[in-house]
Amino acid sequence: MTVENQFTKYAKDYDDHNIIQRIVSKALVREIEGKPQKILELGCGSGQIIRQIDWEFDSYKAIDFSRSMCELHPKNKKIVVKCFDFDSLEFQEDIKDERYDLIISSSAMQWSKNIKELLANILPKTKQFRGVLFTSDTFKEIYEITKKEKSILSLQEIKEAFSSYNATFEVFEYKLHFENKKELFDYIKNSGVGGESKLDFKEAKNLYKNYNYDFLSFEVVFVTI
Ligand SMILES: C[S@@+](CC[C@H](N)C(=O)[O-])C[C@H]1O[C@@H](n2cnc3c(N)ncnc32)[C@H](O)[C@@H]1O
Repeated sequence: MTVENQFTKYAKDYDDHNIIQRIVSKALVREIEGKPQKILELGCGSGQIIRQIDWEFDSYKAIDFSRSMCELHPKNKKIVVKCFDFDSLEFQEDIKDERYDLIISSSAMQWSKNIKELLANILPKTKQFRGVLFTSDTFKEIYEITKKEKSILSLQEIKEAFSSYNATFEVFEYKLHFENKKELFDYIKNSGVGGESKLDFKEAKNLYKNYNYDFLSFEVVFVTI
C-alpha cells in the first residue's frame, strides 16, 4: 500500500489514533515566532495545525496528497487546501512565485522521496520554517523483528538534508504504552505512521507472536530555521 492510500483508507479513524502527532504538533505551534501572516503547511492532514493557530492571518495554504484528508481540513476565505504531492513538479510550479512568513510541517516530511529537492524548493521562499519529522527509529522494536526496509527517513538523512540551511535540531523519543497487544497493533494500523512497509500474513503473525513489549516507540526531530 502506498503512503497516500494508507492515509486515504484510514482518514476517518486517524483522529482517534494520533496521540503522538497531536503532542508534537502542539509543541511545534508553540515554537512559532511572532504572528506570521502568510503561511504554507505541508502534509496538513485533517487540520491538526490550523486548529491550534489562534491569531488572525492573511492567508493559509495547506497541502496534502490524500484527497480524504484534504476534505477533512477546515477551509474558508483565507484557508486554501490543495491536493498536491509536496515532491511533485505541480507543487513546485504552484508556489513558484510565492513568499511566506512561515512554512510549517508536522509528521509528514519524513516520507519525502527527495527531501533535498523539496527543501531547495521551499526554504528560499520563507522567513521561518518549523518542522517536526518522525525518524526511522519510530517502531524500531518492530523493525528488529520484521527486518523490513524502513520507509521513512533516518535522523542522519534528515540532518544531512538540512545541513546547508543553518537549522537547529531537537530529538525526542516517546513511548506509548498499551494494555494489550490488540490495542497496540490497532494503533499501528490506524495511526498512519507505519508508512508503506506491508507484511504478508505469515510475517504479520510472526510479528504478533514475537512482539513482547507493551509499548511502541517513536522518535521525532524538531527542525527550526
Ligand atoms: C501523520 S499525518 C500528519 C497530518 C498533520 N500534519 C498532523 O499533524 O496531524 C501525515 C500527512 O502527510 C501527508 N503526506 C505524506 N506524504 C505526502 C506527500 N508526499 N505530499 C503531500 N502530503 C503528504 C499524508 O497524506 C498525511 O495526511
